[in-house]
Amino acid sequence: MDQSKAQDRILKLREDLNRHNHLYYVLNQPLITDFEFDQMMRELINLEKGFPEFIDLNSPSQRVGSDLNLEFAQVKHNYPMMSLGNTYSREELEDFDLRVRKVVTGEFEYVCELKYDGIAISLTYINGKLVRSVTRGDGERGDDVTRNVKTIKSIPLKLTGSFPSEFDIRGEIFLPREGFDKMNRQREESGEQVFANPRNAAAGTLKLQNSAMVAKRPLDCFLYYLAGNALPSPYHYESLVKAAEWGFKIPLKYMKKAENIEEVLKFIEYWDTGRKTLPFETDGVVIKVNSYEFQKQLGYTAKIPRWAIAYKFKAEQARTRLNSISFQVGRTGAVTPVANLEPVSLSGTVVKRATLHNSDQIQSLDVRIGDWVYVEKGGEIIPKIIAVDLNSRDATSVSFNFLQNCPECNTPLMKNPEEAAHYCPNTYGCPPQIKGRIEHFVTRKAMDISIAEATIDQLFRHKIIANIADLYKVEYMQLVMLERFAEKSANNLIESIENSKNVPFTRVLYALGIRFVGETVAKKLARHFGSLEKIMLASAEELMNVDEVGERIAGSVVEYFNHPLNKVIVEGLKSSGLQFTMRENETLSLSQKLLGKSFVVTGSFEKISRDELKASIEQNGGKNLSTVSSGTNYLLAGIKPGPDKIKKAEAFGIPVISEDDFTELLK
Ligand code: IVH
Repeated sequence: MDQSKAQDRILKLREDLNRHNHLYYVLNQPLITDFEFDQMMRELINLEKGFPEFIDLNSPSQRVGSDLNLEFAQVKHNYPMMSLGNTYSREELEDFDLRVRKVVTGEFEYVCELKYDGIAISLTYINGKLVRSVTRGDGERGDDVTRNVKTIKSIPLKLTGSFPSEFDIRGEIFLPREGFDKMNRQREESGEQVFANPRNAAAGTLKLQNSAMVAKRPLDCFLYYLAGNALPSPYHYESLVKAAEWGFKIPLKYMKKAENIEEVLKFIEYWDTGRKTLPFETDGVVIKVNSYEFQKQLGYTAKIPRWAIAYKFKAEQARTRLNSISFQVGRTGAVTPVANLEPVSLSGTVVKRATLHNSDQIQSLDVRIGDWVYVEKGGEIIPKIIAVDLNSRDATSVSFNFLQNCPECNTPLMKNPEEAAHYCPNTYGCPPQIKGRIEHFVTRKAMDISIAEATIDQLFRHKIIANIADLYKVEYMQLVMLERFAEKSANNLIESIENSKNVPFTRVLYALGIRFVGETVAKKLARHFGSLEKIMLASAEELMNVDEVGERIAGSVVEYFNHPLNKVIVEGLKSSGLQFTMRENETLSLSQKLLGKSFVVTGSFEKISRDELKASIEQNGGKNLSTVSSGTNYLLAGIKPGPDKIKKAEAFGIPVISEDDFTELLK
């Protein structure tokens, strides 16, 4: 295909894909099948590859995301991002209405909207193209998360119709309930920690460094506020109607104009119950004065607009009976009491269990088995007991005594006076604690063995493994005999365990799960001593010679290697062939050229990755710092460096050097 034909085809495909995207994600009215959409997308990606001169950052092909890890740059908002005044009471709403009426001269309307529970985002469009997406941050400056936001299909990359040449539009990025449930189910299955609520999940997703991962999560975005000099109407509601025509997902379905505060109250009443069946979470209603002119008259306080207010719904409560209290032992041995309730419906789900936190909580509530209790769902998935209905208490009930012995291994529980939780001190014999250490051992940052939590549990129950060293003795035949264990998964697991024997020593040391020895300390210890043998022989004093290792860490290391069981485990791991010494390329001292010099590395780099640069600093005797201070010697800045870091470096007179300057330093 010649160049001009390719260009025509690329432009046509982009236009069609944008239109189908809008039909599917914004209007919910797809015209073509997913297959047809994918075919068009593939054709576009191929053409863009073949004719890179036509690459456009706003092409629909850019929505697939990228694996590049980029630190988010902090950028200043075009217009400050204010928050809203909050109230839970109708009286305060009426006061708000009175204040508005005092200032506003003439007739006016309110616009009622739902308050979406997600992450606020500000999108900048120039000439109809999305150029920047920034989180709220501190209201003045936020994180530039454009790459991640571009993966959200309901956010248009290119607008249609006639729109102002420059404007910002704001809204809320959220995860619909269904997508959230699905995501958590998958996380549970693969042994990852589940998100507490859709809001946290959306926030976590938006801040992922890897936009290809973001693209896989079903984020959505409602827009509810325009800022700019040439808005399409003198009214908020009408401007948003126009914005919907340009391609934005405006939640007009959930918006209503109100002539007076009574109508506002009706809207609130309706959604206070109606919200339970919505496919997304909302925690209140936002009331805004519709006319921009009147908004201007009302103005702002230092933090919030005087022309808008948020009414927050009260967390839903339910009354039910406490049938029993059971106890869960966590990976660290902490014991958590859990209330088993008579099933009751709350915020659209059936609640059977609630957390009771710890013994202090049980005592202060004086909650007893058989009591009628009030449960509430806050922002978290697990509801909590907030009060006991003392009037309905059975006269024969007795105070609840906290457990004396571990429910898993029967060891007497202990409690540190300065901590709230009881814990089981049987670190090496208590099943959830043992399993917890195995789970830590296999994580990606440790040995990176692909095994689900459920499989660890299965192997543990069948007594195939009792500690981390046993993983290396697991045999294919043992696995295929297990329930639901196919040949392929057995082979994969064996292979993954085998591969982990190449994991470098620093990670092996971290994987052991020695208390207080995280990734950084493991690295420092490994580099200082060079081998596990030397660490095992080191005294507390010798350990404390290592940078960042104090009494607490040193004590924990000594204790770990003194324990007879750990000695056996370590022996086992050694004979299985794990890396117990630093390898050539792991050992640091390439040179001492940077001895005494500290660096802050910011941005991304063309020739080598940021991690490699950091490693190189340390391998040559230098030190990495995370923030710029007067003690920093160099700021090593790549593409898109953190503007604050640059500013600080300039203020302290610290040299800002490039990748090439750094290579020079090492020569
Ligand atoms: S308007 C200047 N409308 O609530 C007014 N905010 O507590 C700008 N929010 O930071 C905000 N739904 O993240 C507005 N329909 C809605 C909203 C909404 C949710 C969030 C937003 C804001 C926070 C304020």
